[in-house]
Amino acid sequence: MLPSRIFVALRLVLGNSRGRNLKAGRAILRLDHSFVVEEIMSKEDRMDTWQERWSQGKTGWQLPDLNFALENHASKLLPKPERRILVPLCGKSVDVEWLYREGHTVVGIEGIEQAIVEFFSEHNLPYSTEQLTWAKVFKTEDDRLKMYCCDIFKMDIENLGKFDSIWDRGSLVAIYEEDRERYAKVIKALLAPDFHYMINATQYTPHEGFSGPPRNIPTALVEKLFGDVCELQVLEERTRSKEAVAHWGLDDFVEAVLLLTPQS
Ligand SMILES: C[S@@+](CC[C@H](N)C(=O)[O-])C[C@H]1O[C@@H](n2cnc3c(N)ncnc32)[C@H](O)[C@@H]1O
Repeated sequence: MLPSRIFVALRLVLGNSRGRNLKAGRAILRLDHSFVVEEIMSKEDRMDTWQERWSQGKTGWQLPDLNFALENHASKLLPKPERRILVPLCGKSVDVEWLYREGHTVVGIEGIEQAIVEFFSEHNLPYSTEQLTWAKVFKTEDDRLKMYCCDIFKMDIENLGKFDSIWDRGSLVAIYEEDRERYAKVIKALLAPDFHYMINATQYTPHEGFSGPPRNIPTALVEKLFGDVCELQVLEERTRSKEAVAHWGLDDFVEAVLLLTPQS
């Protein structure tokens, strides 16, 4: 019996009217010779989507001021001076500069070079670069702030070493659902014995029109991902007004500040 449609084992790149690539898909050839294209998100596409956002200046997550969680709970994340702190998926967040100015050693991971270059330039921080086999590193003259340009899933974890603290804003919430387990594995591999890991988790009821990013990260999900090695504390739950999230068509939106520490 003939199949109703034949799957063509080639990936298409769709173009819009201006000839720009929009998205990758899988071509499905029907027996009437018409094509339909299913959008699929392959691992290679992941950074492309973010690159497109950065190139088009669609960086609505970028905040002008220090994140409220750091303002209110920095002492919980950084109980001692001169910590070694990781900021995964750091973008060009002003939080990174603040942590550096506070005297900590800061490592950022960011997949898009434009974000890193803009960060150093906007904060007037002189830097040098070094090409490693797995990343391009941007570093300040004193070596206390480094940003690695690479996909977080392609990092050399051994080479990075361990971190006393991890600040996770716009990171776990930006990761694709199917990558969450391996993201958790990467993070756990980077924790120093006496770690403090703080997450700003966005929590809401997703609907057809909006499911992120930022994605819905219930506290129970964080427990599931990290509960085997961490104790979890909810430090704050900040409710955002309906007006503030109206553009996403959401009815409810909470930013939970979660602190993960070693199991006692
Ligand atoms: C939602 S933004 C948040 C940026 C920053 N944390 C902030 O709060 O402003 C997510 C960032 O992660 C970067 N990114 C996404 N996936 C990544 C990956 N797999 N590896 C490295 N960077 C990634 C994107 O380019 C983007 O700058």
